[in-house]
Amino acid sequence: MQLDTETDNSFYVTTPIYYVNDLPHIGHTYTTIAADVLARYMREKGTNVFFLTGTDEHGQKIQKAAEANSRSPKELTDEVVTRFRDVWKRLCITNDDFIRTTEERHVSRVQKIFKAIYDKGDIYLGEYEGWYCTPCESFWTQGQLADSKCPDCARAPEMLKEESYFFRLSKYQDFLLQYFEEHPEFIRPRSRRNELLNRIKAGLEDISVSRAAVEWGITVPMNPKHTIYVWVDALFNYITALGDENSDRFKSFWPANIHIIGKEILWFHGVIWPALLKSLDIELPLQVFTHGWWTIEGKKMSKSLGNAIDPISITDKYGVDAFRYFMLREVPFGLDGNFSYTALQNRVNDDLGNDLGNLLYRTLSMTQKYFKGIIPKSDSVSNDNNKLSENAALIEKQIEQNICNSQFSLSLEAIWIYIKQANKYVEDSKPWVLAKDETRKEELALTIYNLNEALRIIAIFIYPFMPDTSKKIHEQLGILEIEENMRRDTTWGGLAAGIKIQKGEPLFPKIED
Ligand code: MSP
Repeated sequence: MQLDTETDNSFYVTTPIYYVNDLPHIGHTYTTIAADVLARYMREKGTNVFFLTGTDEHGQKIQKAAEANSRSPKELTDEVVTRFRDVWKRLCITNDDFIRTTEERHVSRVQKIFKAIYDKGDIYLGEYEGWYCTPCESFWTQGQLADSKCPDCARAPEMLKEESYFFRLSKYQDFLLQYFEEHPEFIRPRSRRNELLNRIKAGLEDISVSRAAVEWGITVPMNPKHTIYVWVDALFNYITALGDENSDRFKSFWPANIHIIGKEILWFHGVIWPALLKSLDIELPLQVFTHGWWTIEGKKMSKSLGNAIDPISITDKYGVDAFRYFMLREVPFGLDGNFSYTALQNRVNDDLGNDLGNLLYRTLSMTQKYFKGIIPKSDSVSNDNNKLSENAALIEKQIEQNICNSQFSLSLEAIWIYIKQANKYVEDSKPWVLAKDETRKEELALTIYNLNEALRIIAIFIYPFMPDTSKKIHEQLGILEIEENMRRDTTWGGLAAGIKIQKGEPLFPKIED
């Protein structure tokens, strides 16, 4: 199992904290939906979960955005943060905490931590001369630029020459090399780990960790003329949200089981973050999983390129669960994927409407028609070996394995194999033929029971991905009591006979162009 929760039955998952210079778009929602799936899945398994997200509110980028809007940075961040909170609410995100880097709990702790690293001798005063990309909040050497542009976002960087504090990153090169060697699962996917390893092998230089020219940031405790470099400030959110090292939260949840991030911020999470933690003698997170980008016509979706899609309007049209499903089903987690409305619409109409929605609709219609809406009792359930009863446990294993590997699309693929098998079971067993023959009443009861039971289990399978649909399926099956914190009981035969179904509207009506 890739995500070790067995040692202490706790699970800590994080998203990056989002910049609040601009409004959220669907690229941002990707990381958070994936983290939500993990959090929901682990909770359902009875694990003690802490799921953290938040906002990255300091730095030059925010300062400039505020100036451009004739606002103070505080006014801008207070406004944009509510937009992020609204989107997470809309998307049914179940984060346990939301950290803002402007909060006192974060600011005071970051200052203490910065001072501790300084006292240890790992931070020293020097002068920085080199390039800075404000949109990425990244320092670059001349050699790292691509065609005189930022190698990450291809925008023009500015030349900086200023007094700065430096962190002795170079001191941690050997440590990192050994750590990567001993923990092959630390950075995933493997290809990204290897890329990063090569960069570390090529040599690590000390990095600038303060800005003399940026006011909007956390003041360096030893020198109020400087603010702490926004990336160092931001990375610490993963521990400041837990409280200090003696707090119960910290003891229960650190080290994090998984930081989920986008590929452009791997350097910070895979090199700088572990080195800072090592300097503080704090354990390293167990895993950093790097996903790819949503692109539009090959370009990364971003507000500044003007190709960003608003998560609220897309969910208005397609529905929240359909959007969550699409994001994780369409592209293997780790790779880039091109966004298209046609692909989204096809997923909704085919996978959700034709496969899942139709299975529920026809099963409930037959339950209504042949058994007056009562789940029939059949004495043969426990000794009937059909594909659905046989495969439920197998699919559950595949889901577990793939979720724990952050391979969400494969988990969903496995679930859809099962849904298709259930639809095929309807066609093969032909309940409408059985219903015409009084002597086959028991066979009909068994068939209808099996279909309802398969749907009960499918609703559990899809719960982390599509929580609202899962609940609706259970409600339509007449199962009302599991709802909150439902345990993952997928053992065949769990559905009680005799309950009355509550057939409702089709789950995913066809979406026309
Ligand atoms: N503030 C930093 C993270 C600090 S974490 C200690 C940051 N913020 S961000 O708002 O620019 O990006 C946050 C996350 O959103 C990143 O993981 C990034 O990859 C993700 N995405 C932003 N646009 C994206 C796409 N177009 N596609 C997929 N994910 C993208 O970086």
